[in-house]
Amino acid sequence: MPNSTKISTTVFEFEDIAKCSSEIQELMSRAVSIRDKAYTPYSQFQVGAAILLENGEIITGSNQENASYPSGLCAERTAIFYAGAQYPNQKIKTIAITASGIYKDNLEPVPPCGACRQAIAEYEQKQKSPIVVYFMGKTGRVKMVESLLSLLPLAFSEDYLK
Ligand code: THU
Repeated sequence: MPNSTKISTTVFEFEDIAKCSSEIQELMSRAVSIRDKAYTPYSQFQVGAAILLENGEIITGSNQENASYPSGLCAERTAIFYAGAQYPNQKIKTIAITASGIYKDNLEPVPPCGACRQAIAEYEQKQKSPIVVYFMGKTGRVKMVESLLSLLPLAFSEDYLK
């Protein structure tokens, strides 16, 4: 066998959002509100993301679909690109994500997709500090990682470009 390294990650779990701090409860409730306004005529799967900036402001976003399917955008990137555009010098502390569709109850935490992980990782690298990620389904259990990189080991980054 060749040499190997083992990669481990720590994911924290909360029975429900009420077990989280009041700051996180507020952030997740903003994610839920925006989730319910997502534009999802094709998937009927609604996702909301709320981002807490260092200055205390909260930026929210939902998934925006398109008849040309790949032209749509996930909630997390809608929110984080807006934060990056409007508040380029504010560090992102936390992102809370919630997702729910019509085909099942979605009571288990729904993690961000790979493309969103990559996008969030970019901002961690840019600001040189971790972004805490909370994710939930429609309601119920909540998972949390202390840094996006916990969800994206061996991440590609600018380090490989220059
Ligand atoms: N979606 C998100 O908004 N975030 C994710 O991390 C996963 C998927 C959206 C994209 C599409 O509008 C719908 O969920 C189904 O994939």
